[in-house]
Amino acid sequence: MTGARRFPDGFVWGAATAAYQVEGATDADGRGPSIWDTFSRTPGAVLGGHTGDLGTDHYRRFADDVALMADLGLRAYRFSVAWPRVQPTGRGPANQAGLDFYRRLADTLRAHGIDPVVTLYHWDLPQALEDAGGWPARDTAWRFADYAGLVADALGDRVALWTTLNEPWCSAYLGYASGEHAPGVQDPARALSAVHTLNLAHGLGARAVRAATGDAAPVSITLNLQVNRAASAAPEDRAAKARLDRVANEVFLGPLLDGAYPEEVVAETAHLTDWSFVRDRDLELIRTRLDALGVNYYTTALVEADGSVPGGGAPAEADVQAASPAGAARPPANLVEGVRWRHQPGPRTAMGWVVDPSGLTELLVDLHRRRPDLPLHVTENGAAYPDVVAPDGGVHDADRVAYLHAHVDAVGAALDAGVDVRGYFAWSLLDNFEWAYGYERRFGIVHVDYATMARTVKDSGHWYRRLATTGVLPPPGGAGGGDPVGAAAAVAAG
Ligand code: FCB
Repeated sequence: MTGARRFPDGFVWGAATAAYQVEGATDADGRGPSIWDTFSRTPGAVLGGHTGDLGTDHYRRFADDVALMADLGLRAYRFSVAWPRVQPTGRGPANQAGLDFYRRLADTLRAHGIDPVVTLYHWDLPQALEDAGGWPARDTAWRFADYAGLVADALGDRVALWTTLNEPWCSAYLGYASGEHAPGVQDPARALSAVHTLNLAHGLGARAVRAATGDAAPVSITLNLQVNRAASAAPEDRAAKARLDRVANEVFLGPLLDGAYPEEVVAETAHLTDWSFVRDRDLELIRTRLDALGVNYYTTALVEADGSVPGGGAPAEADVQAASPAGAARPPANLVEGVRWRHQPGPRTAMGWVVDPSGLTELLVDLHRRRPDLPLHVTENGAAYPDVVAPDGGVHDADRVAYLHAHVDAVGAALDAGVDVRGYFAWSLLDNFEWAYGYERRFGIVHVDYATMARTVKDSGHWYRRLATTGVLPPPGGAGGGDPVGAAAAVAAG
């Protein structure tokens, strides 16, 4: 296209965080322990032995952080509610002090003209519920619905968009199959059972939110759908890609949109489970009305058949991607057989994820074709790079500016193709606790000095401010980097 890309009026520019990654204050105001408190204390589970105990101290500094969001021109803030703050043991009456925090946060956002976008579950299951069986146990879906109702009652019409679950793929597969995430279980049969309980939790939770608030705000779910590319046109590589698409994507999209699990996936996992955890009426409960779909996008994956499937050629070991970081597009090997991952050429982020913005356009276009009436939001997109604070006081993260520029442009391309995408949320507002990578991977558009908790807007944050305040995609370099970075731009909170 020629000239600067302009986004529609009303397109929502936001940024996202999650409770356990930023809040800290894990002992405050009656919060109970979550599976991440337990997991992060397990030796070897998290890089550097880091925990979310301090996070970015957002629980205490939220008012300053909201002022910073306003300064960045954000229209919306996607945050998650910590279930163990609301129900310390995952059941029973609400802990009012926990709810009060989110009421204050939502009110402060609204006072600054920023829409609260609430995720009800971003991975911090109350430990007591894990002890009772966790996500593989059916009852957890009903516990989630009770919790969702409590939050919806308390936040009511303060919320602009509800999201039931963030990336149930990670909760199920990284939590219960590969064990890279809390609770660290390696049992693929239980992971598939967790997939189903999470789908049920979405359906029941969405109903609970509507029962409490009516249609005051749309109800959505956020998925990390994977854009898998077959390594060649050979039938076995294409079959490997299709197998992967089913176990990674269709186990969620199928029940949510079509009211059914794909028959092939049931057959392909028959050696693990008979799927008897799916009961009558469950699929009806899952396929409740969906007002919008959240899309988290980071990268793509190149897949091929391995030698274990008849006809699949074995790739050179050196080409095969090493262990997957959390959030990358790779289901655990104990869950999907006969599929290998290859490195795609091209630049990578500090997570080792290949930078491939075209996958975001493809994903949005495919979803729109499948369900033209379903509004989409890009609820996370961003990149980790090894940022440093420069002698001039700024953080000159040209790589991240280029990443964001290319991906926002990819969203623009989807809009050009007629896709109903309503908003974009940068991951993340702040550097934070990046799950199994602890504080060693920085995704923020705002830098956090973990010794002092000082916030410094990175060049990417200045660039994003120009985008959010004008609706016009600024160039990635030079003047597009925005305002001079220095003392005036550094917000030292607290
Ligand atoms: C996603 C998570 C988010 C963050 C990013 C990098 O999978 O939803 O919390 O860790 O990856």
